[in-house]
Amino acid sequence: MGASGSGKTSMRSLIFSNNPASLTTRLGATIDVEQNHVRFLGDLILNLWDCGGQDAFMDSYLSTQQSTIFQHVGVLIYVFEVESRSVQRDLEYYTECLQALRKFSPDAAVFLLVHKMDLVRPPRGPVLEKKTAELRAASGDTEITVFGTSIYDESLYKAWSRIVHTLIPNASVLTKHLGKLADACNATEVVLFERTTFLVIATSSQQPPSPPAPAPSDLPPASAALSSTPSSLSSFGSHTEHGSLVHQEDDNDPHKLEPTRYERTSELIKAFKHSCTRVREEFHALEMELADFTAVLDELTKNTYVLIVAHDPTVETAALKMNIRLARKKFE
Ligand code: GTP
Repeated sequence: MGASGSGKTSMRSLIFSNNPASLTTRLGATIDVEQNHVRFLGDLILNLWDCGGQDAFMDSYLSTQQSTIFQHVGVLIYVFEVESRSVQRDLEYYTECLQALRKFSPDAAVFLLVHKMDLVRPPRGPVLEKKTAELRAASGDTEITVFGTSIYDESLYKAWSRIVHTLIPNASVLTKHLGKLADACNATEVVLFERTTFLVIATSSQQPPSPPAPAPSDLPPASAALSSTPSSLSSFGSHTEHGSLVHQEDDNDPHKLEPTRYERTSELIKAFKHSCTRVREEFHALEMELADFTAVLDELTKNTYVLIVAHDPTVETAALKMNIRLARKKFE
């Protein structure tokens, strides 16, 4: 949900329909509610409702349609335009929606996306912090998670990976199995992606795909993100600079892995897959053997891809591929 023009359909079309950001300017306003069923991990079906944000629709959701719209909600994702000209009205609608949600789906998680962050002049951190404080105040006792997002960089994948992660019932079991696969491969990390969206489902690391706290990090300029190629998977390597991103390095991490590596991989692979379709090729797998790391991205199950990254120079891609093949049965 969110005001008209805040970018709801754009993010849906990017993540779930694999369209590039440049095509979103052609999208028309959503009339009433558009429902999508996205098959996500075998039997898990994501029922996505894109609620048109024009005032007349919002008024109807909050009156006659209230019990339909807010019943059985797993997650409410409310989108706020960072430079909205009607902040007060946006907040009023939001708090009314929150009240209805509490009444009909008291257990639903609430994610707030402060969207179109690319329009904010750097430094963006303080702007996001101010907006987050405003949203927390408007949310009262309700627990919320806030992300700064833009369709022009990986920030959208970070937010959506986190959202989807909360909906997966057996995420901790997946993490355990990925940990075992990482050990078997002598790998630094194993990451599981959903096949069509390329959202991160689980990683071999104990922490969730992305931290729940609001990200005060600056977003890179759109051009930097769009011009990247999969070779930028080197975020799994040892260097740390990327545009204007503010990174907190973990001093205990010998490989200096970037905190944004998951969402950057999602974004880059999606862009690469899109390039493949333009030349009528299909994306199947990716192998990299570089001086400081080896990586394989390959199909694991019908609905997932797995990325294995090893910093051990004796590990060869053929061995990683064989282990993926052997692990398939376990994950099916
Ligand atoms: P309704 O369907 O009326 O509720 O609107 P909506 O929230 O679905 O908005 P929509 O996705 O149609 O986006 C409106 C405009 O915002 C489009 O022209 C998009 O290209 C643009 N837009 C979406 N996301 C971003 C973003 O992250 N940054 C910028 N600069 N523009 C964006």
